[in-house]
Amino acid sequence: MTAEILPIAPDEDRALAAALDHLGRGLPIGLPTETVYGLAGDATNPEAIARIYESKGRPRFNPLIAHVSDLEMAETQAIFSPLARRLAEAFWPGALTLVLPLAPSHSVHELMTTGLDTVALRMPRGFANRLIAVFGKPLAAPSANRSGKISATDAAHVASDLGDRIGLILDAGPTPIGLESTILKVDDDSLTLLRPGGVTVDDIEAAAGVPVRRPRPDGKIQAPGMLSSHYAPEAAIVLDATACEPGDAVIRFGSRPIPGDEAAAFVLDLSPEGDLRQAAANLFNYLKQADASGAAVIRVAAIPAEGLGEAIVDRLQRAAAPRP
Ligand code: TXA
Ligand code: MG
Repeated sequence: MTAEILPIAPDEDRALAAALDHLGRGLPIGLPTETVYGLAGDATNPEAIARIYESKGRPRFNPLIAHVSDLEMAETQAIFSPLARRLAEAFWPGALTLVLPLAPSHSVHELMTTGLDTVALRMPRGFANRLIAVFGKPLAAPSANRSGKISATDAAHVASDLGDRIGLILDAGPTPIGLESTILKVDDDSLTLLRPGGVTVDDIEAAAGVPVRRPRPDGKIQAPGMLSSHYAPEAAIVLDATACEPGDAVIRFGSRPIPGDEAAAFVLDLSPEGDLRQAAANLFNYLKQADASGAAVIRVAAIPAEGLGEAIVDRLQRAAAPRP
């Protein structure tokens, strides 16, 4: 199989029809969202879900996010406490995923939730939202990359990772946020951060009026995607780099050179202005480019860990973690 790459613009209705045709037959598609590209399939269809796991090479104990188009669809799938509703109203559609108790009326398949009594829900913006509304059912969509690799932020990345395994990739260009959603577990009136992402903890706390708990680094893993090595490039990664060797690939931040990088094989700057939003949007693409340069070592400048920087540092630490 070789995936057709179909631009969404200018003929959005044609893209919608092609997507509906695939989804209706239980076939997953590459779907752009505001965070990263998803590998999207019918969340109620076990065959579609099995194909998602197979295409990604993803372990089946790692549950998927169900994407919904509106609050009514969300409340069919999960039980919303007043706090959960407040967060949905504040951040949806957007880059926040809520882990909530499954509702008795849920239609998402247990292959997708891996039999847990909770479900991870997100309401995306834009075309993805429109597609789900017309499809009329939630879409399961993990990031559209092979398991353990860097998440895809443009259609060409989806094609190089999964193009031989799926039939259709919709192309909306680079994704605006560039990092996956923030995952938050909501238990009545307490909030636990399972994965930092596109919505900052500061913004969540301001909207929720309660603090967000961060599991201790040595604590029990609560989201399987929190497994240490993830987003792994081929090259070795050195973080908080203060020096480099000739031939290294270098990723700067805020226009500050890393001493010795005039002899580097490859230099990129995540954000010359030191803007974390821009750095997030460039991160996965730059890691891929640095890796493709063939350098054996990628050295990355220190990134401030506040705001969106928390998610950027999280992804960098996973990319640098020892491989299994
Ligand atoms: O931005 C995003 O979230 C993207 C786009 C495509 O929406 N999706 C994404 O999906 O990043 P994925 O599968 O790569 O990451 C989903 C994470 C996994 O770490 C999974 O373990 C966690 O969500 N998860 C799903 N259901 C869960 C549950 N019931 N409890 C705890 N964690 C859950
Ligand atoms: Mg992923």
